[in-house]
Amino acid sequence: MNPIAEKIYEIGIVPVIAFNSVDEALPLCRALSEGGLSAAEVTFRTPCAEACIRLIHKEMPDMLLGAGTVLTVDQADRAMDAGASFVVSPGFDPVITRHVIEKGGIAMPGTSTAGEMQQAMNLGCEAIKFFPAEANGGVAMLRDIGAALKGARWICTGGINITNLRNYLDCDQVIAVGGTWMCRCDAIKAGDWAQITAACKASVDTMLGLHLAHIGINSKNEEEAAATASLLAGLLNMKVTPGNASIFVGKREFEIMKQPGRGRNGHIAIGCTNVDRAIYHLSRRGVRFDPDSKKVQNGHTTFCYLADEIGGFAIHLLRD
Ligand code: 3PG
Repeated sequence: MNPIAEKIYEIGIVPVIAFNSVDEALPLCRALSEGGLSAAEVTFRTPCAEACIRLIHKEMPDMLLGAGTVLTVDQADRAMDAGASFVVSPGFDPVITRHVIEKGGIAMPGTSTAGEMQQAMNLGCEAIKFFPAEANGGVAMLRDIGAALKGARWICTGGINITNLRNYLDCDQVIAVGGTWMCRCDAIKAGDWAQITAACKASVDTMLGLHLAHIGINSKNEEEAAATASLLAGLLNMKVTPGNASIFVGKREFEIMKQPGRGRNGHIAIGCTNVDRAIYHLSRRGVRFDPDSKKVQNGHTTFCYLADEIGGFAIHLLRD
């Protein structure tokens, strides 16, 4: 995928915004960024879209900026000139799509049928928008189409919110979801930036699904491991399942290492929906990772250690 689509994939959620005035542009984008989402699709539904894109691009160059609701070639040109890295339309318009690609831009036309998707892909779109997602059959529709259009990569918008975003992101061909749920018109009008930041944070947390997966405990040798496993199993009335390098207790809540493993005392595994996305978002919060520890299986990053221990425990992410 192109670097813009890669970035959208890492961020995972793209807020779709209709600005009422240029004055809202920077405080709103700061609120999004503080909530973990430094991406915005600024829609040409309001007349100040171009000016907002220009200002955000200049003052907040780290924001990944797209132009949305682009209905004409002229709007596409103005958006790209103002600094939009990608151009989104609600529907599939081959003229706009071709024009953006010929100018070296990234076009993400809205599509809702296999026919439109196929045409957009053949014009050179690496990521296409599925819109309006819920009204068009949602993720079930995409899974059916995806079985045939294996190269399709979608950004889904329309009816998506914190309650259903995981259904979409669970589908391997969906690179991101987007929508207005984090920045509702009334919150923007009221300048309620704190509410917008909180909605972004909650959405990022839901997307990542971080949770305690298991605790690994180091032992000097197999005998010590067996003793630890039996004590924990007795305490919690859990079963013991021997493995090769470790002994598992319960439904793998505990992994008792037969030798000293990574971490002074052991390790803590944090489960998540997508390790790459978790690395991106946690890095923004100051967490450091050990990239050499990354494991990839069937095209998915499944595992990565944090650089630092906590309380004598190495910490690793684990794909659910
Ligand atoms: C879009 O342009 O992508 C949609 O307006 C977003 O849809 P939503 O308002 O249902 O989130």
